[in-house]
Amino acid sequence: MIMEKVILTGDRPTGRLHVGHYAGSLKRRVELQNSGKFDRIFIMIADAQALTDNFENPEKVRQNIIEVALDYLAVGLDPSKTNLFIQSQISELTELTFFYANLVTVSRLQRNPTVKSEIQMRNFEASIPVGFFTYPISQAADITAFKATVVPVGDDQLPMIEQTREIVRKFNSIYDEVLVEPEALLPDNEACMRLPGTDGKQKMSKSLGNCIYLADSEEDVRKKVMSMYTDPEHLQVSDPGHLEGNAVFTYLDAFSNDAHFAEYLPEYHNLDELKEHYQRGGLGDVKIKKFLNSVLQEELAPIRARRAEFEKDIPAVYEILRKGSDAAREVAAQTLAEVKRAMRINYFDDAELIRIQSEKYLQ
Ligand code: TRP
Repeated sequence: MIMEKVILTGDRPTGRLHVGHYAGSLKRRVELQNSGKFDRIFIMIADAQALTDNFENPEKVRQNIIEVALDYLAVGLDPSKTNLFIQSQISELTELTFFYANLVTVSRLQRNPTVKSEIQMRNFEASIPVGFFTYPISQAADITAFKATVVPVGDDQLPMIEQTREIVRKFNSIYDEVLVEPEALLPDNEACMRLPGTDGKQKMSKSLGNCIYLADSEEDVRKKVMSMYTDPEHLQVSDPGHLEGNAVFTYLDAFSNDAHFAEYLPEYHNLDELKEHYQRGGLGDVKIKKFLNSVLQEELAPIRARRAEFEKDIPAVYEILRKGSDAAREVAAQTLAEVKRAMRINYFDDAELIRIQSEKYLQ
């Protein structure tokens, strides 16, 4: 049997998506979608996972489903090629999670570095909700239910993929070869891997107010770019500037190409020349920020326009998610049936079992 190439990935709906999501994952997903190299693509709004640390805030999760869906459609994910669905609507995923939980130890979960740092960030140390602690198992269910071969994610998700691979190997060796081991697919550009906030802080996060959102207006983007963090020692234009930790240059690494220079800053051929001049001194921050603004506006304008179109018909967007969820459920149900058969818990569709047992008692 030739193995299908299947993508599954997703996002927690806890806010609108920003350019960090775009550089780190969304842009790649659209390229993969349009490459024609995949048999099936599933992109999931991970509301159940979002609830593991927002269980007191269900309305926030509920309101952000549509925001994430609009962002997906805006960047060019196309429901005729990519299945967009909502995690909680696929109850098969929770069933798989329950069975996989037998294959994972508490100490293994405790070693997950991403979960560890999230526990710290959320002040969960004193009492960790079980649901949150075990979300890597549920993520393994998300991935394996669709027999995903490729999971495009940021590097913070590598521990989840590794955990999934371990569950797959253990399941297949104990029961039967049902599940497929997935591979992570990381962004190929270092700057895209983790775009800093506009304030230069390591991560873009809503609570820090340092995000450029895909849905931001042209004016908002311009304002945010013009007040971005650069190099605190670069006080005068003539001073030599540093690139290390300079958010504007990280963004340029992530988004600019030579064609942008030809169009908006023809004095330079490419980013290397611009960096060189900046480090030498004599290049002001305003100039590099204006250039970054042009680059970002070019990238974001079509996304904003497409979002505005979809915003005009919200019921249609919910319909896309409903259809996607129905289709996803069928695939997950098929895998769950195979899992149950392998685990010997498929009593009613096993005529052989009933026949053998009745013969045993008739003798
Ligand atoms: N953990 C991912 C995040 O925080 C979201 C997610 C849930 C996911 N299930 C997944 C990603 C399965 C990839 C595959 O962004």
